[in-house]
This record gives sequence, C-alpha cells and structure tokens, in this order.
Amino acid sequence: MNILIIGAGGREHALAWKIQQSPLCTNLFVAPGNAGTEKIAKNVPLIVTDFEGIAKFVTNEDIEMIVVGPEEPLVKGLRDFFSELPNLTKVHIIGPDHKGALLEGSKDFSKRFMLKYGIPTANAKTFTIDSLQHGLEYLDAIQLPIVLKADGLAAGKGVLICPTHEEAKTNLRQMLSEKMFGEASHKVLVEEFLEGIELSVFIITDGKNYVTLPEAKDYKRIGEGETGLNTGGMGAVSPVGFADKHFMNKVHQKIIEPTIRGLQQEQIDYIGFIFIGLMNVDGEPYAIEYNIRLGDPEAQVVLPRIKSDLVELLMATAERRLQNEKLEIFDQTASTVVVVAEGYPGTYKTGKIINNLDKITRANAFHAGTATNKNNQIITNGGRVIAMTGLGENLKEALEISFEAADTVHWDGLYFRRDIGKDLLVTPPL
Ligand code: AMP
Ligand code: GLY
Repeated sequence: MNILIIGAGGREHALAWKIQQSPLCTNLFVAPGNAGTEKIAKNVPLIVTDFEGIAKFVTNEDIEMIVVGPEEPLVKGLRDFFSELPNLTKVHIIGPDHKGALLEGSKDFSKRFMLKYGIPTANAKTFTIDSLQHGLEYLDAIQLPIVLKADGLAAGKGVLICPTHEEAKTNLRQMLSEKMFGEASHKVLVEEFLEGIELSVFIITDGKNYVTLPEAKDYKRIGEGETGLNTGGMGAVSPVGFADKHFMNKVHQKIIEPTIRGLQQEQIDYIGFIFIGLMNVDGEPYAIEYNIRLGDPEAQVVLPRIKSDLVELLMATAERRLQNEKLEIFDQTASTVVVVAEGYPGTYKTGKIINNLDKITRANAFHAGTATNKNNQIITNGGRVIAMTGLGENLKEALEISFEAADTVHWDGLYFRRDIGKDLLVTPPL
C-alpha cells in the first residue's frame, strides 16, 4: 500500500520510521517532510493545508492511506474535503473530521464535552468581548494562580498562567479586546489551576473501540527545572513510573471510556489518535486537554516502544475493527532529548550546517526542523531541530544514549536541556 504522511516534524519522522518497517507499506511519502524523512521516504513539496494539491498527489500516486501528523489540516477539514471527492472516498485518512477536530480546535467545545460526559477536569468559564466586564469581576472572585486559555489554535502559545489578579485582568483584556492571539482568543476560558504532575496518554480509536498506546511525560519549558517560556516540548520519556496499573485503570474508567461514549452520543465519527493531556492530582486523573494527534516529542518515545506493525493497527482503525487488535509493546524504556536552535522559543536563526550526525550510533536521531541545502549538507530549518531517542533496559540507560547523541551532534548555537527524565530517576520518599 502507498502511504502519505502529512507534516514536517520529529513526530512525522518517527511515524515514517515506524511505518516504513511494515511489510504492508510499499511506497512512503511525506508532505512536506524534512532532511530525516528524505532518507527513508520520498518528500513531497506540499504545504499541509493545500488540500487540492494533496488530493491531486493522492490520485496520481495511488495513495491508499493518509496519516495526518499535525492538527491544523484536520481542524481545517481535510477529512471533510476528501469525503466530498467521489474518486477519493476510499482513501483511508487517519485523523478526525472537522467536528471531531473541535476536541482540540476549540477549548470551549472540549471543556463542555468533558463536563457533559462527567470527565474530571478543572472548572472553567468562557468569556467573549461582550462579557468582558463579567469576566473581570469573575477573576476577582477566584483563587490564584489563574489559567487563561484562548479558545482556538494558537500554536501552543494560547495558555497563560497568571500569578496575580492584576496580571490575569490585563491578559484577559488583551486576549479579548486586543486579540492577543488573533481569532483564537475571541473566546477565552478562565480556568482553575490544577496542582499535580502531568501525563500524556494516547489512544487510537475507530470511534467505538480503542487501543491504548504507551504513555509519556513531556518536558515543556525551555529551561532546566521546568523554568522559562513554554515550548512545543523539549524532551519526553516513556513509560512513566506513576502511571501504574492502578492509576491507568482510573484513567480508563474516568477519562477514556466516557470520552468514547461522548463521541458516540455526539455522533462524532472519529478515526484517529486522541492524545489526552492530564494532571495527576493526588493520585486522581484530571483531563487538561484533548489533542487530535500524536504529541511531539512524545511520538518519538511512544512509537519506538511499539512492537506491533503500526500499519496494521492503522488499517484496523480505518476499517473500524479495532476490537480485534492487541498491541505488543517492548519492555524497554525510551527517552528523547530535543536539541533546539539558540533563541528558541523566541526568534532563532536557520540554515546552520549540522555536523556529526554520522557519528551518532546508538540513538535514533529524529529530525524536526532540518533541510538539505544545495551542497547536500543537512542544515537547521526550525526551532526544534532534532530529537535524540534512546532505548534502554531502564531510564538511566535510555537517557545515557539520548544525551550521548545530543553531545555529539553539532551546529553553531545549539541548546538542549540536561535534566530531561532526571526527576523520574530519583526514587520518591516513602
Ligand atoms: P494546553 O495548551 O491546554 O496543553 O496547556 C498548556 C500547559 O498549560 C499544560 O500542559 C499545562 O502545563 C498547563 N495547564 C493548562 N491547564 C492547566 C490547569 N488547569 N492547571 C494547571 N496547569 C494547566
Ligand atoms: N508535546 C505536546 C504536544 O505535542 O502538544
């Protein structure tokens, strides 16, 4: 079968790496891809929201399955677009339609969904420019810190955690009346702050049945000790110690199963991944958000832990027969350390020549922001440049491999966090 992956990041390189291992995959394409995917698949110069271009390519190359990496094409209706093309209705698309994509595309929708189906989550109220005055009064009445969330997609930047009432008021005003995040903040959720440890849980569902993938912990801030600005993710590990059987049973009962029931009751015909960002608050899981895709860099630790054939799993999802699927997982621990460009998540330079990739022997170097220049050299082409994934018998071994690779690769002005996974190496006190 010919398969097309949509996207250009580390997640898509990891997907390509896993998919091309499947005997079911004949030709693999990535649109637009990066210098890493170019080595194992064919890159296609199409942007991820060029639905017409994608449809033409799918017809010409006889693509039978499209695996969508990022959320944007799904929120913009890629599946809906294909469902209206008579010649292409048989193409399997891994990713929900526009309605299902609202789980990520609108935080107001997903909050109402969670509340309607009894899924534990932080209390929240939604405000618009018309109810700004109400919103400001409401802020005074709630406890600090206060979480403000832009309703729509804001490239991972739409959540503000405000330590004072003053700051919360200024931000709410700017979000609603000055469109701080453009259209995304025409509605804003004011949310209660949850204190706890975060966990990323992944399932793949055919709308009725689901398979749980390995869980992961993501390191979001730019600075060591979780300080500084939020990023797309600076590293990840899987498995996560506290996500034991007992805790995961609660996640299944209280979060995943009601989510699937909700999809059915809302008549959302969901085919694809769901990534639930949750908080462990004193041993109880609370849903923070849904994403309609795999995480990045979580995919770079989740996929290498999957032993089963991913294409077979994707086919079973697309053909709505997931009830028969069992996932085999490797016992090993995976870690990934994201090496970024100097300045990220602020402004950064691109086009720096990347050296020593050939000296990386033990890690999987999943490319994110890379490209190939005219002289066939691999250069930086984004903020998050490359994710170094190690697999080991335990976390310590996996991290050694990730850090060895991060220390080996070189370009002018690189940076990575040296504390990824280190919090989980410390045995908690009894
Ligand atoms: P989101 O874009 O919803 O994933 O939010 C980004 C990050 O903000 C999350 O990964 C959390 O670290 C943090 N966050 C979001 N909502 C809350 C909350 N209610 N309480 C505490 N932290 C939160
Ligand atoms: N690493 C978090 C995300 O992919 O949204």
